[in-house]
Amino acid sequence: MANKGKILVTGGTGYIGSHTVVELFNAGYEPVVIDNLSNSNIGVIDGIKAITGSLPVFENIDCKDYNSLERFFEKHSDIKAVIHFAASKAVGESVEQPLVYYRNNIVSLINLLQLMPKFGINNIVFSSSCTVYGQPEILPVTEQSPIQPATSPYGSTKQMSETILRDATVADKNLSVVLLRYFNPIGAHPSAEIGELPNGVPNNLLPYVTQTAAGIRKMLRVFGDDYNTPDGSCIRDYINVVDLAKAHVCAINRVLEKKSKKNIEVFNLGTGNGVSVLEIINTFEKATGVKVPYEIAPRRAGDIEQVWADASLANKELGWKAEETLENTLKSAWKWQEKLMAKNKEE
Ligand code: UFG
Repeated sequence: MANKGKILVTGGTGYIGSHTVVELFNAGYEPVVIDNLSNSNIGVIDGIKAITGSLPVFENIDCKDYNSLERFFEKHSDIKAVIHFAASKAVGESVEQPLVYYRNNIVSLINLLQLMPKFGINNIVFSSSCTVYGQPEILPVTEQSPIQPATSPYGSTKQMSETILRDATVADKNLSVVLLRYFNPIGAHPSAEIGELPNGVPNNLLPYVTQTAAGIRKMLRVFGDDYNTPDGSCIRDYINVVDLAKAHVCAINRVLEKKSKKNIEVFNLGTGNGVSVLEIINTFEKATGVKVPYEIAPRRAGDIEQVWADASLANKELGWKAEETLENTLKSAWKWQEKLMAKNKEE
């Protein structure tokens, strides 16, 4: 396949980053990965190789370090676009260590934006989150929904990053930005060569479900069954991580082919379906045949009751649609969990 050019993927050994690197290879791009491995490991690169047959260039670089980043760009002067994933993402941790979050997530972005024009790079795709909408009044939520005050420093960093990117496009007419607002990414590559690697006790639902199914955790706690939803548990839009990764390739195609007249665009990336916590548990059990012991627990502070995407703009403009079924996505999450357990036994 013709080489469509180098794409820098910051945070490329992370959960969404690694799946995106695979899809970039599949689409004929040459992904170049930088990561400081603060929440991932170098073994992910082997997983990418096992799936694609290609080994991405990898450099252990922290985007907070302006000088290292500059040296990296000097070495790779032919990068066409950047996908910026590298960021801290744990909501609770961000409340405890706000300055770490502001420094990590904001300084990294500013460094990239200052260096990109120096090296003639005008295109950036940014990992944002549906967290910017808070609890929307109207569902499904469109990109026009008002941005609500952030409920955590993590959420603030996503909002601030969007503002920084917007301001940068005003000042630099050559800059093209795509902000991708993810809903809840779940699952793993169907090969189970790459997947989510949560550190310690998982905060997010899916890793907690698979670890409970595996017997690593005794009991899943369902945070609240008294919400104003059909079964009382919270509703989210759970999107398959490979589908999500493919949306990044569409966004890269769009900026490189200059398909839009606007130099900043925003897209929701979700399935358009709201699914409750209890529905996730039931569908997981049906799809895998494995039981998930659970109990109803008090509501979790700061949780949004329900949110799901109107993804029609991404469908229309990016030519992208979430395709995988929830059943298959949950199966992929379980296959990955089984693989992790087999690996741990070997070690
Ligand atoms: N949940 C449980 N038990 C658990 C873990 C989660 O019942 O052990 C529930 C939560 O209460 C919530 C749902 O599962 O209703 C999903 O929770 P996650 O933590 O997986 O995801 P969130 O929707 O809370 O968080 C996600 C992203 C964040 C982002 C946030 C914005 O992970 O990065 O959406 O709302 F900030």
